[in-house]
Amino acid sequence: MLRLCSLDEIPDGDAIGVKTALGEVVLIRQGREVVAYRNECPHLGIELNFQPDVFLDTEHRYIQCANHGALFQIEDGLCVFGPCQGASLTPLSVQLIDNSVCLSPDHARKD
Ligand code: FES
Repeated sequence: MLRLCSLDEIPDGDAIGVKTALGEVVLIRQGREVVAYRNECPHLGIELNFQPDVFLDTEHRYIQCANHGALFQIEDGLCVFGPCQGASLTPLSVQLIDNSVCLSPDHARKD
């Protein structure tokens, strides 16, 4: 179990990026729920963001790739608009332990 950050470090309704030995992880928080994805766009395999911790569209309804504007559903990472429509971000499995957001040992989310 790898501790990524405290829940309080993620603004509610927003996202942050956390660098790990496995690459950067994008964490999106909605209340006490946190979902995680690799910071890698399925369009070109490059990072989603230009600015640190800016991963969501202006209304905070979708994850947005800054490169070509692809929009991904927060809950499952599915691209619903843009050049990689139908493809998905790579989900990661995180757990909240006390107030810490932790990456599960097998990383991959099964849902
Ligand atoms: S690299 Fe993400 S939409 Fe093109």
